[in-house]
Amino acid sequence: MKFFIDTANLDEIKEAHDLGVLDGVTTNPSLMAKEGITGDENIIGHYKAICDIVDDNVSAEVIATDYEGIIREGEALAKLDDKIVVKVPMIKDGVKAIKYFSNNGIRTNCTLVFSAGQAILAAKAGASYVSPFIGRLDDISTNGLELIEQIVSIYQNYGFATEVLAASIRHTMHLINCAEIGADVVTCPLKVITGLLKHPLTDKGLEQFLNDHKKAQQKPAIA
Ligand code: E4P
Repeated sequence: MKFFIDTANLDEIKEAHDLGVLDGVTTNPSLMAKEGITGDENIIGHYKAICDIVDDNVSAEVIATDYEGIIREGEALAKLDDKIVVKVPMIKDGVKAIKYFSNNGIRTNCTLVFSAGQAILAAKAGASYVSPFIGRLDDISTNGLELIEQIVSIYQNYGFATEVLAASIRHTMHLINCAEIGADVVTCPLKVITGLLKHPLTDKGLEQFLNDHKKAQQKPAIA
């Protein structure tokens, strides 16, 4: 299972990378705006800075929604670095563009996927990744994890090469459930990745081990 971090914050990306478990980064226009990254030059510079931190898989989203525009932006993004994966929305021109990128050796992440039908289209078009948004479905009382399960099963039926990238992950149980279901990738905020570390029995056990060690050092050695 691959771990991507869902942020455009360089410090958070570095922290997750330093943990040694990071396989990539997903950004989107909202996450870029949150970091105050505006203007073409700054946006390009920011993607390059992210690519300098991680080993591969940096999803950079196109803003255009028409076929020609998506191709133009996607090709420019892909030229920035081999690590770039062009993020394309699940719309008609997006699907056509994914097919074009796939034919031309450019990796894509089909984003804003909320149904199995959309996921089938993305795979048929040759997307490298498909991003179903779990949290946003849960927000409207629809089971996001069931969609992940459905897509994993459909892709297995036909041996689609498209990887299921579970997105919009809100908490550690989303991530663990995705692992059980067999999602290929999860993308989540740093707090979800570091949240996996925590267990009160680990903290309690470590404290006891260290105390016992300290006490033993204070006793004279047995002759
Ligand atoms: C995926 O690539 C998106 O950037 C992201 O997961 C959206 O998550 P949100 O619903 O928390 O905004």
